[in-house]
This record gives sequence, C-alpha cells and structure tokens, in this order.
Amino acid sequence: MTVDEPRPLPHPAWRDQPGHLRRIFQTPHVVLDDLNAQFGPVCGLGAGPARMAIVGDPDALRELFAMPNTSFRWNHKFNVLGFVVGKQSMIVSDGDDHRRRRSSVQSAFSRRRLNGWIPMIVEQTDAAIDRLVERLEPDSTVDMYPAGRALVLQIVVRSLFGERMSQRCNEIGDLFQRPQDYLESSAFRQFPHPFPHTARARVRADRQALDAIIDAEIAHRRAHPTGDPLDILETLVADGSMTDAEIRDQVATLIGAGYDTTSASLAWMLIRATLVPGLWDRLRAEADRVLGPPTDAAPDASTLAELDLANRVMRESVRLHPAGVLSPREAAVDVSVGGYLIPKGTLILWSAHLAGRNADAWPDPLEFDPDRFVGLDDRQRALADMAWVPFGRGARNCIGFALAQMELILIVARLAQRLDVNPVSSNIPDPVGMVVNRPTGGAPMRVTRRGDSATTVPDGDGHGTVCSAGR
Ligand code: HEM
Repeated sequence: MTVDEPRPLPHPAWRDQPGHLRRIFQTPHVVLDDLNAQFGPVCGLGAGPARMAIVGDPDALRELFAMPNTSFRWNHKFNVLGFVVGKQSMIVSDGDDHRRRRSSVQSAFSRRRLNGWIPMIVEQTDAAIDRLVERLEPDSTVDMYPAGRALVLQIVVRSLFGERMSQRCNEIGDLFQRPQDYLESSAFRQFPHPFPHTARARVRADRQALDAIIDAEIAHRRAHPTGDPLDILETLVADGSMTDAEIRDQVATLIGAGYDTTSASLAWMLIRATLVPGLWDRLRAEADRVLGPPTDAAPDASTLAELDLANRVMRESVRLHPAGVLSPREAAVDVSVGGYLIPKGTLILWSAHLAGRNADAWPDPLEFDPDRFVGLDDRQRALADMAWVPFGRGARNCIGFALAQMELILIVARLAQRLDVNPVSSNIPDPVGMVVNRPTGGAPMRVTRRGDSATTVPDGDGHGTVCSAGR
C-alpha cells in the first residue's frame, strides 16, 4: 500500500459491535461521542450488508459534500422515510427523478418568495403569542415545544400551500403525528408488512387521509388558481413537470421535513437562549430596535438582516443541537474521504452533531456562546464555516434551509420582545430521537407577559405556549 492509498476505516472490536449497533438507533449522540473519543470522527461500524461509516470530521465532510450525487444513493434499503413521505418524494429519489423533482420545488423557493413570507411569519408569531397571553395563569409552567410546533406547522403550511390549506393545520398536524412517532420507533416495528390493525397499517391510513386533503387542494388549484404569488403549490401545479402523485409526495415531504425539524430546533434554541444570563434581554433590546412594536410597519428582508444577535443565537443553537444528528446516504461506488476508504454499498451516516462539536473548529465546543461568531479571522471563519453543517451542503442540502433559519430568527426575536421566559431547570435536557433530535421532556418554561411577572401559561391542551428569561 502506498502512503496515498486510502486506509480502511478504524472500527470497534467485533465483540463491542452489537452494543453500538443497538444503541446507535436509540441514543445516537451517545454512541457518536463514544466512537469519536475512541476512533476519531471517521470510523466504521457493522459488517456485511449492514456495514456503516460514520463521518463527522469537517474536512472529510467537505470532501463528501463536493462529490457528485451519482456517488451515492438515497433510495437505499435502510431508508424508511419513503413509507411516510411517499416513494416519489425527492428525499428518497436518485438520478434524473431527483433532479427533476428537486428543481421543480427549488424554483418555488425563490428569494422573492422567501422575503414575501417575512411579514406572515411575524404575524403568525404575534397571533400565537396573543393566544398564549389570553390563557396565562399565575405560576404555571408552559411546555414551549408543543407551542412552537403548532406555530411552525401553521407557518410552514401557510407559506408553502396557502391560506385555504392552513385552515386545516390541526388536522394535518394530527395526521403527521403517528407517522412521525412511527419513524422514531425501533427498526423491528418498521419492518415492511401488509397486515391490518398494526401501527404500520394505521400510518398507511393516516397518509391516505393526508393524500385526500392534498389531492383535493391540487384539484382546487387547477380549477380555481388563487393567483397568490407566494403559494408554492400553485407554482408546482402550473409548472407541469411533475404528475399529481409526484406533487403530492413533495407536499408531504415539505411539511414532514419542515415541521418537526424546525420546531425541535426552536425548542432547543429557547432552552439555550434562556439559560445564558442576560441573553434574553439582549435579544429583546435588538428586537425592540429592529422590529419595533407590533403596530409598526411590516418587517422585510432588511429587518431580518439586522437581527444579528438572533441570527447568532440560531446558528449557535443548531450547531450544538442539529435536528439531524445523523444523515444517511449509501455509497454507490467506492469513495474515499479523510484518507479512508468507504466501500460501495456502505451506509454513510454523516454527522452534523460531531462536526458541530469538533474541537479544532470550535474553541470550547460544548459552550453555548453566540458571540463566538464575532471577530473571527479568515482562518477561523473558514474552519467554522466548514464545521457548521446542520442543513448539509452540496447538491442534496436542505431545500428549506433559508425558510427554517428565517422562522427561527424571527420567532425568537418576537418572543423576546413580548414575553418573559424563564426555564424551570438549569439543566440541558438529554436529546431524544433518531430522525429528529428533540429535548427530552420538551421545553418547560415559566412564561409571563413582558413586564408582567405574576402570570404564566398552562400547557393543558398540548397546543403549547411560549416562555421568558428576564436574566
Ligand atoms: C431547522 C430546520 C431544518 C434542519 C436542521 C434541516 C436539515 C436537513 C438536512 C440535514 C437534510 C439532509 C441533507 C443530506 O442528506 O445531505 C435536509 C434535507 C431536506 N430538507 Fe431540511 N432541515 C430543516 C428544515 C427544513 C424545511 C423548513 C424544509 C421545507 C419546508 C426542509 C426540506 C428538506 C428537504 C425537501 C430535504 C431533502 C432534499 C433533497 O433530498 O434533495 N427542511 N434537511
């Protein structure tokens, strides 16, 4: 072997493999941290048809993301998402099908359309806060996670699919709940089968009910175009490059991929932002200056650009708590990253979690410090840029990254402006979730109206609330 030849992946001893394999789908972050400490950020796991490669080194990730899509397969035997989002979803497509489906949706995510959603995001946040404030009761604790989920779902459905469909948000949220829980259940439960009266059958029925809503909406757009320039569904229907079945799977994908990820990230962001003394007040001061009171002119792209601290809080929070701890793709050919050989057929699990905690790129990596992005020299900025990959990179990066970031920044800014939010515990909760990384136990907070320290919100109906950290 010459010095330049890629080396085989380091891996745990065979006797330790079953334990790692079992735990990686239950507590992925724990296994990743263990393997990283023992073998470094690129290593192997499993064997035969179940062989995997973990890639969490920023340099290796840069190489991975620069490779052509043809080097990988997303429609592989371990991809369970297709059952929920549909077999024609871009997320489980490869080759020309992926290119066509993604480019049709991508053109709908234009900068003009994204900017057009800014006032609506702030309006929806204000409406959610108003509802919350109406129900405030003294001394109760509010779980901000379901509150944020309800708000994010409303924003995603409204922004992507228009006013009519957003009126059915609660129904859509209910139909997504069981499939999302199912995706987080054990691989054994997800084994494909046609049997009725099982969890899989119920998920299938939920998806059929969702399809009926989407089909009716597609038919309605064909018959009565709304002319709404911000509506993605109308654009997809008019575009004509996808069949109705394909459009339906992209709609399910966009809601599914955009809803849980963003609301889990919002919960982490609120936990982190309220635990740093004084940070909520700094967010509030910035929002007061930039957004002004709710009666002020509608915010626009320049307003968003001025929310610099809220932006850094978002970036720091998703660095430490990326919604996807691991993202899978299969090697379609032998590939080499970070000097290691990953043989064809290996399931590559690239990790935004490991990259976001890489000590070379991030001094004091476990510290939550939104100011770490300020005053970087060129070298530090390049390192941080390479190691910040919560939305992936390259031709398969997250299509909704700009929408998600916009939502997180605007929501946290408005919450800081209007509410006092204090965490009930000073501990960072353990993460839970293989598909979407969420805080265990949600985000319980003491929430009061700004300056009104005696009132809090109940979390009784699970449709959530919002919280304050006047610290
Ligand atoms: C904080 C929120 C979000 C995070 C952290 C996130 C993260 C990711 C990641 C890591 C990927 C996979 C990249 C890869 O496999 O290389 C991805 C893909 C994707 N995301 Fe997101 N995402 C978020 C929000 C959204 C939103 C709001 C939408 C849409 C409304 C969305 C739609 C998608 C789609 C469609 C894909 C598949 C793209 C493809 O296969 O070409 N995501 N996302």
